[in-house]
Amino acid sequence: MPAVARVLSGIQPSGEVHLGNYIGALRHWVADQDRNDCFYVVVDLHAITVPQEPEALRAATLDLAAILLAVGIDPERSTLFVQSHVHEHAELAWVLGCFAMFGELRRMTQFKDKAHRQREASVSVGLFSYPVLQAADILIYQADRVPVGEDQRQHLELTRDVAQRFNGRFGETFVVPEAAIPPVGARIMDLQNPTAKMSKSADSPQGTIRVTDPPDVLARKIKTAVTEIPDLEEAYAGKGYADLKRDLAEALVEFLRPLQERYRDLATDPGEIARLLEVGAAKAQAVASKTLAAVYERVGFLPRG
Ligand code: TRP
Repeated sequence: MPAVARVLSGIQPSGEVHLGNYIGALRHWVADQDRNDCFYVVVDLHAITVPQEPEALRAATLDLAAILLAVGIDPERSTLFVQSHVHEHAELAWVLGCFAMFGELRRMTQFKDKAHRQREASVSVGLFSYPVLQAADILIYQADRVPVGEDQRQHLELTRDVAQRFNGRFGETFVVPEAAIPPVGARIMDLQNPTAKMSKSADSPQGTIRVTDPPDVLARKIKTAVTEIPDLEEAYAGKGYADLKRDLAEALVEFLRPLQERYRDLATDPGEIARLLEVGAAKAQAVASKTLAAVYERVGFLPRG
């Protein structure tokens, strides 16, 4: 691996960013910037694999970019951009779709889970080929390392298989990326349902702490949380859960304060966020267009002009 690794990850602009996203993923994205060449993508093309309200999607995309900047993604050091701004992702996804097999995609557990909840007639082809677009996101930047959650392991395996298949057929074209998956202990659980992971799409908004929740909301959510940690229960024996929860709520408010302050500043200047995203898209496109050109040449497309 080169001295500086290329790192890439993506996050969907659907639902609100919660503490689990921050602790499990975004914190590592920020730390990775010190040693690596990082690309971070707001994946709006992926978001429309399930129904979205257009205005809500647009707002969520801008809002997520603000949150990423607020947590400390530094547009000077990293490449932060919106997936639909770099049309090469969709184009490479088409080509890779011709090198991913129907049977492979049908086995993807995330697809099976999501499709299971809908009638077949309303499961989009986009939901089915979602992992191919994800492979394109990764391979188009020649990423070495992809920080993702455990739930994305299978998609990373598919990405590697498709890259190896393409390389085998046409010669070395793509870096075959490694998944970087944090240990399971780092998972943040739902406050109301401690056996489930905190999730954007959870049924109980009370069980999910958004990183932008104001202090009173944070305190209320902690107060009504289900308590399950034996060590803490012991430490607070005799004092009662109320003390534990008050201390925890205070710690959480302080923990999120710097992020929330930066977020509030950014929210007043959407033009600046748009400008930073434009810089990111231009940097991303410079890399993506090179990879796509090499792929088009290899598969035998006639050059234009
Ligand atoms: N599928 C990922 C998720 O739901 C998001 C994603 C899209 C992604 N493209 C990516 C993650 C590329 C890593 C690399 O979490």
